[in-house]
Amino acid sequence: MSASPKPAPGETYFGDSVVPEAAKARLVRELFARVAGRYDLMNDLMSVGLHRGWKQAMVEQLRLVPGMTVLDVAGGTGDIALRLRARARAAGIDLRLLVCDLTPGMLRAGADRAIDQGVLEGIEWIAGDAERLPLPDRAVDAVTIAFGIRNVTRIDAALAEAARVLKFGGRFLCLEFSPPPNPAIALFYERYNARVLPMLGAAVAGDRAAYRYLAESIRRFPDAGRFAGMIRAAGFGGVGVRTFAGGVVALHSGWKT
Ligand SMILES: C[S@@+](CC[C@H](N)C(=O)[O-])C[C@H]1O[C@@H](n2cnc3c(N)ncnc32)[C@H](O)[C@@H]1O
Repeated sequence: MSASPKPAPGETYFGDSVVPEAAKARLVRELFARVAGRYDLMNDLMSVGLHRGWKQAMVEQLRLVPGMTVLDVAGGTGDIALRLRARARAAGIDLRLLVCDLTPGMLRAGADRAIDQGVLEGIEWIAGDAERLPLPDRAVDAVTIAFGIRNVTRIDAALAEAARVLKFGGRFLCLEFSPPPNPAIALFYERYNARVLPMLGAAVAGDRAAYRYLAESIRRFPDAGRFAGMIRAAGFGGVGVRTFAGGVVALHSGWKT
């Protein structure tokens, strides 16, 4: 990890940079607004398509019940919501799907993509911050969040919000990058992230800085055990974790208690 200064009270990391806490959400929103048009293509290129399997595993871990409401936080271009919808339709189940994201441009890209796939209803696209979800208490049956929580300013506040909007017994699923425990994999992964991601970002999305931020934010995210502890502290029980690709990605789950 680079020797960037430690955040003082009221400051936080934005990648490796230290910024005022109050500025981080705007910086994150501006970054995702810049890359929204190339976001889906970049995911496929960076992960050589592997992100599709990780996301599908999350979607399949959620037990679908007719009439349930699922909130996908930091849902971006709707990858998780569209997968959930496809799975529900295949099973003949009706769901209410809410996608909440900080960046209107990501939501617009998602809504356009849904229309391109012939999905004209059944998904509500909501602009909002994971730390202040624009929903009442106990409004949803499940909360999913994929590759989103790493970007929020206060992870504990976002977890507490997920718990607040969930009904008792509701399901929480969180997919996120994670530091791999194996040192050889960690070394390869760190080099790949630090060198290849910014290069791809520059070539494909025209934005080296955005993908340097991605590499830096991945490096700063807590390991799977520590993150599980944060989920428990937010009021979830039965917390479990599955890892993928040698521990590079972790899928945490829990129940609102
Ligand atoms: C890496 S993308 C993930 C998008 C989608 N979940 C996926 O897996 O493809 C991260 C998303 O998190 C959103 N985001 C970042 N901070 C957020 C916050 N505080 N509240 C809500 N969304 C946030 C960004 O706008 C962006 O769309």
